[in-house]
Amino acid sequence: DLSLKEAFKKDFYVGAALNNRQISGQDANSIALVKQQFNTISPENLLKWEAVHPQPDKYNFKPADDYVAFGQANKMFTIGHTLMWHQQTPKWVFEDADGKPASREMLLKRLEEHINTVVGRYKGKIAGWDVLNEAIDDQLGDLRKTKWLEILGEDFAAKAFEYAHKADPKAELYYNDYSLYRPEKRAGVIKLVKSLQAKGIKVAAIGMQGHYGLTKPSIEQVEASIVAFSQLGVHVNFTELDIDVLPNPSRRQGADIAETFGADAKYNVYTTGLPDSVQQQLTKRYADLFALFHKHRDVIDRITLWGVTDADSWLNNWPIRGRTSYPLLFDRKYQPKPAFQAVVQAA
Ligand code: XIL
Repeated sequence: DLSLKEAFKKDFYVGAALNNRQISGQDANSIALVKQQFNTISPENLLKWEAVHPQPDKYNFKPADDYVAFGQANKMFTIGHTLMWHQQTPKWVFEDADGKPASREMLLKRLEEHINTVVGRYKGKIAGWDVLNEAIDDQLGDLRKTKWLEILGEDFAAKAFEYAHKADPKAELYYNDYSLYRPEKRAGVIKLVKSLQAKGIKVAAIGMQGHYGLTKPSIEQVEASIVAFSQLGVHVNFTELDIDVLPNPSRRQGADIAETFGADAKYNVYTTGLPDSVQQQLTKRYADLFALFHKHRDVIDRITLWGVTDADSWLNNWPIRGRTSYPLLFDRKYQPKPAFQAVVQAA
């Protein structure tokens, strides 16, 4: 059988996010799949600020070093994620020694030092960085109200991109976000990227995370954003693809669950395995998405799945713990699912 990377060799890279267990050698089965199937990797958590730089004067480079070494050894297009985000960033970053809000000068200095240290360490080895993650508000498409905006002001994004470019001029720099098929959010990202471009900053690609459901968003909605972003002269990547087959209790307070599974249903509905009918929906969903990606292969450089097997997926714990979801292309026994075959055939 063709592997994913072979099937899409002429189109784009195909990859997966790796976790600490895989990187530290505790999941040999997953690593074997990664080597066989993928030619790009992303770090699920280990390069986030809280992981790599937990205290002001303490960096924790071991997992990241191992991750980058794995990418180098296997000639993979190695991604860094992420330099500026409002989550998984320690509180101290935004505070002075007395616990008061940091000044603009203090925070800029910290940001520059962090980016220079982390990006500089992997210069020439990490090929592309998610410089800025999730900076656009879901509803309005305005800049999200974060500490970065509050303390630095509107040029926070430009600063992060400038520091990253200085630390590794050859690395590709990305803006990454979710729900970018939403018209308001799409418009917000376009505005942000244009403002960066007007300052002479090169945004190599917009990363559409791709945390999708079985039916939403529609293929047309996703396509509209691919097209709109490509008109900015940037590439488009799908950076955290997974398809949640479960209802999402946080979004509509259980309304989805009741509608789909009846009033008595709980959120964790497929504990003993995925019913065939849902497996088929998942397969079709992946096939439709990869057909869309293939169609837009000229602007798409990379498709990255957010995990290797269903067992690894963050969706087993999000938005609440104790879910059993089936969002990826390999099952809990490391076997390809029907969706895998469908994806290979979409090439
Ligand atoms: C998630 C990880 O998968 C989890 O392990 C972690 O607990 C929380 O973050 N958007 C992103 C990713 O950009 O970094 C997030 O990853 C998922 C949503």
